[in-house]
Amino acid sequence: MSTSVSDPNSSQSDTSTIASEKVIVLDFGSQYAQLIARRIRDQNVYCEIVRHDLPADRIKEIAPKGIVLSGGPSSVYADGAPRCDPKLFELGIPVLGICYGMQLMCEALGGKVHNAESREYGRAHCDIVDASDLFAGISGQTEVWMSHGDQVEAIADDFEPLAKTSTCPYAAVRHKRLPVYGLQFHPEVTHSVDGGEILRNFLTEVCKTKGTWHLGDFADETVRRVREQVGTSRVICGLSGGVDSAVVAALLSKAIGSQLTCILVDNGLLRKGEQEAVVREFTDHFQSDLHVVQAEERFLDKLAGIVDPQEKRRRIGAEFIACFKEEAAKVEDARFLAQGTLYPDVIESGAAEDGPAATIKLHHNVGGLPKELGFELVEPLRDLFKDEVRRLGLQLGLPEEIVWRHPFPGPGLAVRCLGEVTADKLVVLREADWIVVSEIKAEGLYRSTSQAFAVLLPVQSVGVMGDSRTYDNALAVRCVNTDDFMTADWSHLPHDLLSRISTRIINEIKGINRVVYDISSKPPATIEWE
Ligand code: XMP
Repeated sequence: MSTSVSDPNSSQSDTSTIASEKVIVLDFGSQYAQLIARRIRDQNVYCEIVRHDLPADRIKEIAPKGIVLSGGPSSVYADGAPRCDPKLFELGIPVLGICYGMQLMCEALGGKVHNAESREYGRAHCDIVDASDLFAGISGQTEVWMSHGDQVEAIADDFEPLAKTSTCPYAAVRHKRLPVYGLQFHPEVTHSVDGGEILRNFLTEVCKTKGTWHLGDFADETVRRVREQVGTSRVICGLSGGVDSAVVAALLSKAIGSQLTCILVDNGLLRKGEQEAVVREFTDHFQSDLHVVQAEERFLDKLAGIVDPQEKRRRIGAEFIACFKEEAAKVEDARFLAQGTLYPDVIESGAAEDGPAATIKLHHNVGGLPKELGFELVEPLRDLFKDEVRRLGLQLGLPEEIVWRHPFPGPGLAVRCLGEVTADKLVVLREADWIVVSEIKAEGLYRSTSQAFAVLLPVQSVGVMGDSRTYDNALAVRCVNTDDFMTADWSHLPHDLLSRISTRIINEIKGINRVVYDISSKPPATIEWE
């Protein structure tokens, strides 16, 4: 995986020409740090995540309009707990500490933090005691999302409380002299009903931002930069069928047209009809060269006998690299490799050895390519979040069908075929998945759900078909609503639709006699089962 946080010294993240006002998030290892940045960008304010220990002098040079201290898994009183440079509180730049960030800030400025009597996790009712600046326009009580073991027990005289819950006397605080604020809850999580408003208030009321960052300017600027970077050289781009690689190809096609060669590796783990759809869409929309690599057998050989999800991911990732390398070697004079790296990949702090966050799954390295391939990288989306990429795709003229396609993981159906992956199981899963998605589309719910798919379970159960006993596989249907993929709710699909999906799957697919619907949200479950 990639570096812990974007380095504001790097030219890759130099957005100065397109972002006149910027807010930075100091990352203390929160699972939600990216979400904070995204919510801030929703207000047309460019936001970057930086290391938690960035020196105050460096912050002064960057001159952000505001600083957010993220949450994190540590306790401020633990040995080695990540800290920020305390001088940043004296820069006169507005600071918002969230959860751990608030605790750190309160402690640094004279308060006390302790382990709360009971760990608070989930929704809480928060009484607003001061409805000015941060809480402007929000009345009385609001529902917030809490996720903490520690909390601020005592604030220094310089602080005043702004909000409280029944178990947390300092749910929100403000410094009396400095533009410094703290929230024990997570405004960035959609379960905090007025969280967006609170962040907007921080930006407009406290940081005085104007919201001048726009995606259209970003596209023009990126096309210009790509042309400058690659000159007359040939660029290779991997296509996956997903929106990210399609947008990269569209951007490159606009920037350098005939100098582009795209490669699609069919790993045998794609959804039904996916390879054909990608080829069709590609030939309809681009004038560039396309190579398709048929590699189903190679991948299945590597997966034989493997049941551990992480090992599956590793093997798929390695085989993908091998296939891609072989095909790329056939492209003459290729010097650059274009990748759909997104901002969340760049700041995937969980994987960084020195990063403070906990790794949940091996994610974005699967389906990705290592630097050692010998190409120079072109990563035109590395400053964008997924929803920004979709908006950019539409601006570039890609059809809605591509732009709104549900995300599909790099390891494909392998992480939805629990246990060992075999060709037979993939046939069953692919057909079931097709039925799930087709029925959701027919009901007109594809756009309003974020991800819908089938999972083949390594569980057999007893059923009865006709007059005979069956002992066949169970299949789970997973459908979630989310706007960030960091948190998600299960979709409350109409019962009639669920019933149709179940009936069709059991009737049409041999080998499945039971369909269950997954009603777990993320957290604590994840979207994929592996
Ligand atoms: P989870 O399962 O962690 O997934 O809730 C969040 C989002 O990421 C996708 N996902 C992956 N994408 N390689 C990818 O490119 C992977 O290994 C991978 N695993 C999960 C998942 O489909 C969901 O959209």
